[in-house]
Amino acid sequence: MSDKSEKKEKKDIIEEAIIGKVLFTEEQIAERAKEIAAQIDKDFEGEEVILLCTLKGSILWMADLMKYMKTDARIDFISASSYGASTTSSGVVKIAYEPTINMYEKNVIVVEDIVDTGRTLTYMMPKLMERGPKCVKLCTMLNKNARREDHVEPDYIGFEVDDLFIIGYGLDFDQRFRGLPYISYLDEKDVENL
Ligand code: IMP
Ligand code: MG
Repeated sequence: MSDKSEKKEKKDIIEEAIIGKVLFTEEQIAERAKEIAAQIDKDFEGEEVILLCTLKGSILWMADLMKYMKTDARIDFISASSYGASTTSSGVVKIAYEPTINMYEKNVIVVEDIVDTGRTLTYMMPKLMERGPKCVKLCTMLNKNARREDHVEPDYIGFEVDDLFIIGYGLDFDQRFRGLPYISYLDEKDVENL
């Protein structure tokens, strides 16, 4: 089989996997992001806010929030990830990129793609507290409560999701599908075929 036809076949598999499995459309995500942006504006009226985007999965959700917020938030990025390419996280957390912005006595909102076991945030939050912020809040696009191991309660939640392997709108499977403009999921059969 040539490279080209192999690629086409994979594309078909992906499309098949995704058809009928859209959990949230681009429009639904935008609506929810607008509601949360308005809530943040209200909660931090007249105050300075730093939006801290967790790489890489949160970039589209972060872009929506900062676009819809009226508050002129400063932004920065942090990369804290579990090792490995699998549909369940390995539990070993590593900080690969540290924010450079000064958080001292500032309101920081961590912008997450999805909270799953909660391990990443349990590791990351105390590290941020060491920087002496006024407060640290958590805004997640998706909350997967079913698999929570550590006590993590997001302050702002886009959508609750069941125990599925979510892809799209920033979320990946093995670094793929981040650019899908909607939120979908893969099941075991799809994963075998990819
Ligand atoms: P936690 O440490 O188990 O809460 O996992 C946090 C990170 O694992 C998230 O920020 C995601 O990057 C990734 N993750 C967890 N669940 C999913 C999923 O269903 N799809 C894609 N990535 C996920
Ligand atoms: Mg993440």
